Amino acid sequence: GYRLWLKYDPINDDDLKATYAKQVSSFYLSGDSDTMKVIGEELIFALNGMLAQAKQVNASQAGLIVAAGDKASALAARHKLDLKAAGDEGYLVYQVKHGNAEKVMILANTEVGALYGTYRLLRQLQTRQPLADMAIVSQPDIQLRVLNHWDNLDRHVERGYAGESIWDWHKLPDYRYQRYVDYARANASIGINGTVLNNVNADPLILTDHYLEKVKALADMFRPYGIKVYLSVKFSSPQLIGGLDTSDPLDEDVQQWWQAKVDDIYKHIPDFGGFLVKANSEGQPGPGDFGRTHAEGANMLASALAPHGGTVMWRAFVYANEKNEERSKQAYSEFKPLDGKFDDNVLVQVKNGPIDFQPREPFSPLFGATPETPLMMEFQITMEYLGFSTHFVYLGPMYEEVLSADTYARGEGSTVAKVIDGSLFDNNISGMAGVANIGSDRNWTGHIILQSNWYVFGRMAWNPEISAEQVADEWVRMTLSNDNEVVATVTDMMMKSHEITVNTMTPLGLHHIMGAGHHYGPAPWVDSLGRADWNSVYYHRADDEGIGFDRSPSGVNAVEQYFSPLKEQLADPATTPEKYLLWFHHLPWDYQIKSSGRTLWNELVHRYYKGADDVKALEQQWDSLKGEIDPLQFHQVQMAMDIHVKEALWWRNACVLYFQQFSDMPIPDGLPKPE
Ligand code: GCU
Repeated sequence: GYRLWLKYDPINDDDLKATYAKQVSSFYLSGDSDTMKVIGEELIFALNGMLAQAKQVNASQAGLIVAAGDKASALAARHKLDLKAAGDEGYLVYQVKHGNAEKVMILANTEVGALYGTYRLLRQLQTRQPLADMAIVSQPDIQLRVLNHWDNLDRHVERGYAGESIWDWHKLPDYRYQRYVDYARANASIGINGTVLNNVNADPLILTDHYLEKVKALADMFRPYGIKVYLSVKFSSPQLIGGLDTSDPLDEDVQQWWQAKVDDIYKHIPDFGGFLVKANSEGQPGPGDFGRTHAEGANMLASALAPHGGTVMWRAFVYANEKNEERSKQAYSEFKPLDGKFDDNVLVQVKNGPIDFQPREPFSPLFGATPETPLMMEFQITMEYLGFSTHFVYLGPMYEEVLSADTYARGEGSTVAKVIDGSLFDNNISGMAGVANIGSDRNWTGHIILQSNWYVFGRMAWNPEISAEQVADEWVRMTLSNDNEVVATVTDMMMKSHEITVNTMTPLGLHHIMGAGHHYGPAPWVDSLGRADWNSVYYHRADDEGIGFDRSPSGVNAVEQYFSPLKEQLADPATTPEKYLLWFHHLPWDYQIKSSGRTLWNELVHRYYKGADDVKALEQQWDSLKGEIDPLQFHQVQMAMDIHVKEALWWRNACVLYFQQFSDMPIPDGLPKPE
């Protein structure tokens, strides 16, 4: 699994191989910068792998031309291609008649655009698509496409399930693993252009010279691949490592401390990306400690970064017991009034749902609510609440569900995708972050199928409207097999897997009923943690009458934070999509479910049983692939499937038995008793 989706195995179809080889095995590069060098290396490696031949030659001999900047403009003009459409980071990949020969051209305004175009062309070969008449124009819809590593300096990864952190801080800056290069290649191949190296629960030591030297070493390695490094910073750093007695953002000494620190970082790393900040959240320090707002805190950092072109990504994941407001409403209440108060180089980073990366959540009502403030999407790629790295879950459909949801902020069609790509409100910056699932595990993500979640994150950050199914198809072809039957089987499994997991764990809008602290396995009974809103019973509210959280106007009225007509739809159980029913409503056990005619109790039980049965069916589908894919990959997933099957039953039995105490209703006829 180490090679991810960049496997480049030999193409077995001799005719196809010959056609590809004739066209692209000899290539020309328009320059010799560091980025052009890595393009050359990737082409040599990939074409040798797939076609058993690859050669860098001069322009007249080449079948493939890779050009950036002026040379690309000249070629585009000659072939009447619109290079402007490639923007700063995009590319054109065309097959054109050049003199008497057909040539494939990768043209871009920038070298990183040419690198992305190169990976795009390689994907064409990896997925066995024709080169004839290729006319691809692509540029990213979102500017900052960033991984967030929740990696601590001692290499423990918060919510990471694939071994230790890949950053070996002890051996940096001198020891530079090939793995860092392969990490950069994988990211560049899907258009990721930034990485936040350390945990949002930040260690202030990251800003000391000792660590900045190490950060610089990584930044130097990633630069040719178009990847900038960012750091998570602790808001109280001026006190913790600067010797000041305050971190008040309006204090001049504090401002000067940050300015000097930022200037120093840019001496090490001239293209440093900026800061990610978790402030006044889950015990982290922040501007609130000094009576200041999130905007005052963010802007203080933003003004230190602005002269260097850096960005602040300020997280909206804030909630506190003391606030006396239901948790799902707090981020909106705190950030909506600050709309328009943030500096131009600040993005507010919002988790996809209003609680916390649950298997399914409605989108956060902040999306669409802040026309003057660009919002950055934060998805979780690592599966904190979804079975860690033991369950087979492709997150593409979940990301798609969120991105295609309509906020109605500017009437129908105001999707979350249009909010975060900046087009709805004409914002000047846009971004999407994914909490990485990468570790030092040999296969990077602890489970081969979960590599697809890193992959789909990158593809959707480039194009938030791409379909999860298309991405699954191409990922399977590049990672597992190009055999159409294998592709159909695995894609089918992937596309179902998220819904199956939702049924297994939290059907019908249930949420936050997993094990306390570690978040693994079922624990709807958790009721005695220090904060009310950490307990499962706070969320499901099961009692003799029924189950679910009344967030409608008769309850905490969280629906008021959405735009019409959504808020009216969600206010009424009859018009609330069934997948969010118990998120927004507390309903009697005998409430009739529209789609099935079952009572709520029977439907809940039915879903838990269906979830467990469907996982078993997934396992059988996987077993049918024996002999069709690499035996080691097959076996790894098979072992994980065993765990998944067992745990789906664990969820089913635990949740059904627990909730039955309240419903006091029997297991529906025909279903075996839970044990
Ligand atoms: C969740 C997660 C924490 C993380 C936090 C965050 O609460 O469990 O580990 O620090 O989210 O996103 O800041």
